[in-house]
Amino acid sequence: KLVAFAAIQGAYNIVNKVEGLYNRAVEQYGPEQKLEFPNTGYFLPIIYSLLGIPVTDLASAKRPLEVARELLPAHVQRATHLPYLGPLLDAGMAALFAEEIAEAIRYVDDPDFYLHSEECEVVKGADGKVDWSKSKVWLGAADDVVMRKRGVEFVDGSAPGFAAIVGAAPNKDLAKEIAEEYQRRNLYVFMAANQNGTTFTEQLIEADVQVGWNTRLVPFGPDISAAVFALGFANRAAMAFGGVKPGDYRRILQYNKDRVFAFVNALGEVNAEWAANAAGCVNWGFPTIADTDIPEILPTGVCTYEHVVANVGPHEMVQKSVEVRGLKTVITKVDIPLSYGAAFEGERIRKDDLFVEFGGGKTQMTELVEMAEMDEIEDGKITVIGKDLTDLGDKGGRMPMGIYVKVAGRKMQADFEPILERQIHHLINYAQGVMHIGQRDISWVRLGKPAVEKGFALKHFGQILHDMFHKDFGSILDKVEVTIYTEEKDVEEFTKKARAAYKSRDERVENMTDEGVETYYSCTLCQSFAPTHVCVVSPERTGLCGAYNWFDCKASYEINPTGPNQPIEKGECLDPVMGNWKGVNDFVSKASRGAVESYNFYSLINEPMTTCGCCECIAAVLPTCNGVMTVHRDYTGETPCGMKFTTLAGVMGGGQSSPGFVGHSKYNVIQRKYIVGDGGLLRMVWMPKSLKEELAEGLKRRGEEMGVPDLFDKIADETVGIDEATVLEFLQKVGHPAMNMDPIT
Ligand code: SF4
Ligand code: NI
Ligand code: NI
Repeated sequence: KLVAFAAIQGAYNIVNKVEGLYNRAVEQYGPEQKLEFPNTGYFLPIIYSLLGIPVTDLASAKRPLEVARELLPAHVQRATHLPYLGPLLDAGMAALFAEEIAEAIRYVDDPDFYLHSEECEVVKGADGKVDWSKSKVWLGAADDVVMRKRGVEFVDGSAPGFAAIVGAAPNKDLAKEIAEEYQRRNLYVFMAANQNGTTFTEQLIEADVQVGWNTRLVPFGPDISAAVFALGFANRAAMAFGGVKPGDYRRILQYNKDRVFAFVNALGEVNAEWAANAAGCVNWGFPTIADTDIPEILPTGVCTYEHVVANVGPHEMVQKSVEVRGLKTVITKVDIPLSYGAAFEGERIRKDDLFVEFGGGKTQMTELVEMAEMDEIEDGKITVIGKDLTDLGDKGGRMPMGIYVKVAGRKMQADFEPILERQIHHLINYAQGVMHIGQRDISWVRLGKPAVEKGFALKHFGQILHDMFHKDFGSILDKVEVTIYTEEKDVEEFTKKARAAYKSRDERVENMTDEGVETYYSCTLCQSFAPTHVCVVSPERTGLCGAYNWFDCKASYEINPTGPNQPIEKGECLDPVMGNWKGVNDFVSKASRGAVESYNFYSLINEPMTTCGCCECIAAVLPTCNGVMTVHRDYTGETPCGMKFTTLAGVMGGGQSSPGFVGHSKYNVIQRKYIVGDGGLLRMVWMPKSLKEELAEGLKRRGEEMGVPDLFDKIADETVGIDEATVLEFLQKVGHPAMNMDPIT
């Protein structure tokens, strides 16, 4: 009861403190002072999602701060004796509203307190020790680009949830142990608060662990108030991917409880303010697991085991947390001497740590997966032809490399080869201390010294691929054999063979048309987050997330016949120009439970496809320009349609069909059927420069095919302008084809 009292007292302290901070800020900057987290369409996300109040300046922060005050239980003593959690949870919520405002004020007071980056800047001195005076580690609020990129991992299950760690471990080795345990389970670790000035983040950095969004170890901030960045991230994900409307607090909280597996680890003594935050987290269904001997943060009998667990030793922390939250995580077992998991995908190999490099422009590196007959290969056989790492001596260096994987299985098809081959990139990256970039004949691998010291050898590349192909694709293959070449002439010869294979494969995909197949595939993977969203993928319209083309869906169906990708007989064609089929409509209306009865593949004006929050691009009509624009999610600037990507995604990302707008993949822009119902690619009048450049080759090719060889140069970008009038002027000047097309209606 004492601690329950502490939680409420802590909430009082926080609200009092923030009120003082707020009044000081108003006096200092005036009520019109802008208040915001960087690059987000969700304002201060906890307040916005739960109260529906968009805070944009100090004046508009006044109301939520009043709400916080009103939420504080009037009688502290009595509140802790009530047989239900209401007052305590309210107090926790009050603390979080106030803290979110405090963090926003910090962005005004000290704009450089947080890095505007996904990664920390750790500077080491000549002695190899961290130079804390030069290092900057706190990342603060994730912007919407990061939230979407990482949020998708929560959607597709590649990250089951997050551990919010507050405080510090007893020492840096234990911090490392705990963090790596979570990494191996694919969880994110969100870090906030300090314990007597020591933080978990700094402990990890001291222990030489890479910290940042790329390794899933995210240092939000050194104060307990930075916990709001974790909860704000979760709530934005609910709005972005779940289509939950701001202000619908019940659904926001329920959504998190059901879908985001998160919990708090309180390391070190739990003070009143931590207790208030812990109480706040219970609203989300996120329990707290502490390593100190606090009998209860919350009242006995009401809030027991499932909300707070105390006195858990550091070695048991991870196991206990995962158990309490009811999370089933599997640690991937591959037979190599390194830790292995998705959290290690994004780590970098720093120059000083580099031992050996394959490819990357200086030497050739090539990868190829090919299908073989069952009796042609031997499962598990890994052959290294040429020098191994030990031949490089202590210094390391460079080597060419060819990785040739042969797979066989009764259900294997040649069409699956590129799908398996594309896995090589992340499967190798998952190994701790191994970095993989690119694919095919432009692959590039960097291997760190620590990996080699732990005994990693070339055969382990084969081991990873063998073990993981069996694990992930066991239903289509029975045998995996890997050959690794490191002699220059062998690699050359292998590369020649590989290039011929890539070429014939590309032609096969290029020549596929929507007319040429009777079966399309559904993808309902995103329905867990956007309930009415149904993608239907055809050869000429890849999934809007960019991750699934028709072949991928076909393979996924073979691998998992009851999974999210189901074959759809497209049936009678109701409109060949718009791209509408009876069989597809029947499927969509069933799969969306009647929410969507029909949609067109090739139009954004008439009954466009549904869009979900993980689309790569969003196209929008620009009526004045008689054309369309599209914007991809990495572009954070303004666009001529008057909305940034994140606003567009917020408007339509919940699985609706919104005439005038449609989500699509980047690659789709250069597919032949791209919005042909509205005039096709010739309607494209504006794209962000970076997207234009990324697609340059295809845009030029398509322009030629469509009889406008300089189309590429006629498409405006942000350097031309970000309003319709300026863009129109440009279009008229260059004679953009859309100027002579039928009015876009
Ligand atoms: Fe989600 Fe569609 Fe991509 Fe499937 S294809 S993962 S449903 S966006
Ligand atoms: Ni790695
Ligand atoms: Ni999606």
